[in-house]
Amino acid sequence: MKKLLLAALLLMCANGYAQKFAGLAKTPQMGWNSWNTFAVNISEQLVKDVADAFIALGLKDAGYEYLVLDDGWMAMERDASGNLVPHPDKFPNGIKAAADYVHAKGLKFGIYNCAGWRTCGGYPGSKGHEYQDALKYAEWGVDYLKYDWCNTASMSSDADKETYAAEAYTVMSDALRAAGRPVLFSLCEWGSTNPWKWAAPVGHSWRTTGDIHPCFDCVKPHGDAPSVWYSWGVIPILNMRNQDSLRRAAGSGRWNDMDMLEVGNEGLSLHENQSHFALWALLSSPLMLGNDLRSISKETLSIITNKEIIALNQDTLGIQGFRYKSADSVEVWAKPLAEGQWALLLLNRATTPTTFTFDWAAEKITDSFAQRELSFGKNSVWKVRDLHAGKDLGNTTKALKSALAPHQSLVLRLTK
Ligand code: GLA
Repeated sequence: MKKLLLAALLLMCANGYAQKFAGLAKTPQMGWNSWNTFAVNISEQLVKDVADAFIALGLKDAGYEYLVLDDGWMAMERDASGNLVPHPDKFPNGIKAAADYVHAKGLKFGIYNCAGWRTCGGYPGSKGHEYQDALKYAEWGVDYLKYDWCNTASMSSDADKETYAAEAYTVMSDALRAAGRPVLFSLCEWGSTNPWKWAAPVGHSWRTTGDIHPCFDCVKPHGDAPSVWYSWGVIPILNMRNQDSLRRAAGSGRWNDMDMLEVGNEGLSLHENQSHFALWALLSSPLMLGNDLRSISKETLSIITNKEIIALNQDTLGIQGFRYKSADSVEVWAKPLAEGQWALLLLNRATTPTTFTFDWAAEKITDSFAQRELSFGKNSVWKVRDLHAGKDLGNTTKALKSALAPHQSLVLRLTK
């Protein structure tokens, strides 16, 4: 019965209900979100400072577009008519004033709410108010909605969970469309209800994991028993739900989201920041920065504005990368690119240095999903470029030998 309902829902989507706005997120969205650094400590002043920094740092020129306020922008209660109320101390001039400031910089403005009756931070959620909230967002000039999954009902079976989530997100998607202002709809149910199966007609991206933590290979517990929850470092996120197997669901306008970036936040080294950024790029995850743009280091800025790495993420073919193989501590990831090109990423997962030889002649990379094959030989010689260093490394006639520090990656673009 539940399966039938889900099938009917998907059919309705196909027939024009719950159709998200087309033409948005043709490539994975790029922007900044307040949560990783500021949690609920956000304000109109912060929005202005971040928007100013966004432009001054050249992020707009590098392709970043959205400035998104996460949880904490609301007052604790709706008004007497059921409208959401901006937090009076944090946003004394309302949300529209903040959105106007962002728009005046040529950027787009995003906001957060939740499919439950309260957000994860305890503020009013949208359940039962979806159409009313969508109208408010349109009135304020919102271009992006991140929509969370706290305080929703518990369902006992996986099928029930899936149906319930698909319905809840569909209601909000419909509400946004009814309000008329194009909104990029970013689903955030942490991959708990298999969104890669049902979310493509409903939203533009969906989270595939729980929350990220600024560490490379750790799992961080929070809270006290019995309600302990975890946040995840870069490697656990890569391993969770077998990220590379979800790639068939991704494509233009529908992306797997491995959560906002922690690049530049305390807890990650230079090599870890570079690898984290490049992995998110290679896996076609949205590139939503989560650091403090007001006090960014030169090192962090050069990582997040590396045009050649960003180009892998924004590649027009829109094919998510995959783990080609693991050898000892080194993993090799591959991503087919437009115009017959390829990206490769060699990652040292270990906490000790390693040397690695990639003997091109012995490798053949087959991508049955993209129906592409990469092989090397006398008649198939590729030029190799190191994208972190921005320098050419010759071609594939000679084996590639590289030394990788702990958690360091070598990211390559191969062109004929
Ligand atoms: C959840 C989401 C986070 C963030 C917080 C806000 O944990 O997964 O990304 O939005 O809620 O409370």
